[in-house]
Amino acid sequence: MSQTSQDLSFPAQPSSSAKSERRTWLIACGAAGGVAAAATAVPLLTSMAPAEKARSAGAPVEVDIGDIPPGGLKTVEWRGKPVWIVRRTPEMLASLEKIEGQLADPKSDRTAFPTPTYAKNRHRSIKPEFLVTVGICTHLGCSPVSKFDTGNQPGLGTDWQGGYFCPCHGSNFDHAGRVYANKPAPDNLEIPRHMYLSDTRIVVGKDEKGEA
Ligand code: FES
Repeated sequence: MSQTSQDLSFPAQPSSSAKSERRTWLIACGAAGGVAAAATAVPLLTSMAPAEKARSAGAPVEVDIGDIPPGGLKTVEWRGKPVWIVRRTPEMLASLEKIEGQLADPKSDRTAFPTPTYAKNRHRSIKPEFLVTVGICTHLGCSPVSKFDTGNQPGLGTDWQGGYFCPCHGSNFDHAGRVYANKPAPDNLEIPRHMYLSDTRIVVGKDEKGEA
């Protein structure tokens, strides 16, 4: 049974391992295309209501995506991790092909965080418009920040096409969460199992094959 999602922002916390369920992470900036996600500190799940316990234990989470504007990013929690749902603009999608030669794993073939079959495509999603990804760096578990402005960006070069930047050790990711080559992160951002319930509702943590 799935839980209804909440928009959450999380406090910055260091993390020691990318694979210890990656329950500690740094908060993503969440500011995208003029849509600001407030960095309100929410205590980690020390005292949880039954629904929160179920969600933390891994229950699928239903998310209303109908209110995400073009270029907007919504953060929900699933298994104690931030999951980003990003409504990409045509410009964001167009950037994916331009930078493919600069990526470490453009076809998502690496298996540290296996990409579901339905997301093994250029846009790494079921519908090109919506990216659903875990907002935790695959290096050591920090949370990247969105860098959606294009062009000359400090630390990102003169021809940045937009995407995400991990401030801990400098890994860059494109608008599909694909990591640039020669960066510390060993893999693209994780795509969780997910599926559409309607045009405006998805469930994270479950797909046609069952729960994650
Ligand atoms: S944790 Fe992201 S680059 Fe190291």
